[in-house]
Amino acid sequence: ALMITATSNSGDPESFAYSTARERWPKILSSAIDEIASTISGHNGLSKEDVEAGRAIQAKLTSLKTSMLGNAVLEPIPRDGRPDTEAYNEEFKTFKDLKWLAAPWLYTECYMYRLIHTYFTLSTPFWHSFDLFATSKRSSLIGSKKGTIELVKRFRAVLQTIAEKQAVDEETQKAIFEEMVQISLWGNATDLALLTSLSVEELNSRQGKAVRDSNKENIVVDDTEQVWSLLSRLRSLGSPRDMHIVLDNAGFELLTDLVLAGYLIESGYAKKIVLHGKRMPWFVSDVNPEDLKYLIEGFANGTIYEDIKSPDKEELQEAGKYWRGLIQSGKMEFRAELFWTTQHPFGRMPVVEPALFEDLADADLVVYKGDLNYRKLTYDGMWPHSTPFSEALGPLAKKHGGQGVRSLVLRTAKADVCVGLKPGQDANFEEGWTRHGKYAMVSYWDAKP
Ligand code: F6P
Ligand code: MG
Repeated sequence: ALMITATSNSGDPESFAYSTARERWPKILSSAIDEIASTISGHNGLSKEDVEAGRAIQAKLTSLKTSMLGNAVLEPIPRDGRPDTEAYNEEFKTFKDLKWLAAPWLYTECYMYRLIHTYFTLSTPFWHSFDLFATSKRSSLIGSKKGTIELVKRFRAVLQTIAEKQAVDEETQKAIFEEMVQISLWGNATDLALLTSLSVEELNSRQGKAVRDSNKENIVVDDTEQVWSLLSRLRSLGSPRDMHIVLDNAGFELLTDLVLAGYLIESGYAKKIVLHGKRMPWFVSDVNPEDLKYLIEGFANGTIYEDIKSPDKEELQEAGKYWRGLIQSGKMEFRAELFWTTQHPFGRMPVVEPALFEDLADADLVVYKGDLNYRKLTYDGMWPHSTPFSEALGPLAKKHGGQGVRSLVLRTAKADVCVGLKPGQDANFEEGWTRHGKYAMVSYWDAKP
């Protein structure tokens, strides 16, 4: 059986969970209350019943915040007609008196977002599909205009190079691949879940090519080479299959993932890209179906950036139409399985979600984006940082029914967990270095037969 070590816990002063539960979660609840207030005041079409329902949700959020700050005991999640509440409540039974300020971080943080979702699913229809974080996700994309234009121009230039089938020598192809990986990897650094206080300028400063090049030494685990040899092997086989991208955040990061998707398809590495997002508002910035539509349609129709001039405007429209075309032609698909918004570490997938596991195992490569996915891949364990990635993966590093998943995770570290370092490498970093999105991991494991 997997030797799972202790996991990050909000009762442990050494863990980032400690301040997250005491400071960041209450802040997120306060912004949620404010978001409802501005929706009620700004939305003249709201019925009296919906206004009252909104106020009732605010009251639930306020009492949740009070319970959290008061280190109250958690309750089972109310049933709201969705099957996934049972996933939480089954595991809930295994805990004894779970308290907000002394609880396993991964379970409790996922539980919090799923509990909040019941405040809306159990309310009036207007609130059922309300996304607390839609406004902030949209403004983060709008605030990323400079990085967005630079990235889209680069993307279209890369597609041009690929399309012209220029005898793009191996060296250039490899350089483009490495650039695409870094673009998607660092796209994860500019996410709202952590950087609630960044100004537009600071947000932009994290998104340019120059900053990516300067960040290279901050990639503390880098399996890019192994992935390149996989792609070269696949290319020589000449029969591309599906590749999956388990998304993280909306906005600029989603744009970087659409760039990666287009690159993998147009280079002939993937026949089809399956994007996996979330079916409910999740960890402040994660991609819901609406967020994907907002970006692609907004680009294609030129409705996201007002003051944008030609040819940038046309570049974005062409990019939007390209991604819209991938979806219409079935070369790209978005799915939001409930599994991704449960609390489950991914090693449980072969048992709790075998159909999804087989889907991923059937693909040539599964790319997971971001910190939460990394935490779920590694059970959010307090592993020694030199623990091999495959050990932390547990069951996902193995075959099941003769099938195995090829996993690549692109993560900027925003929590405690970190594995795959060389012995002693840890000593080079400052206190709390895994917490603020500054350092990154490109970790790969091939479990295929
Ligand atoms: O550290 C703050 C935090 O909420 C983590 O709990 C969570 O894993 C992370 O931010 C979300 O980051 P990402 O969007 O990269 O998964
Ligand atoms: Mg996220």
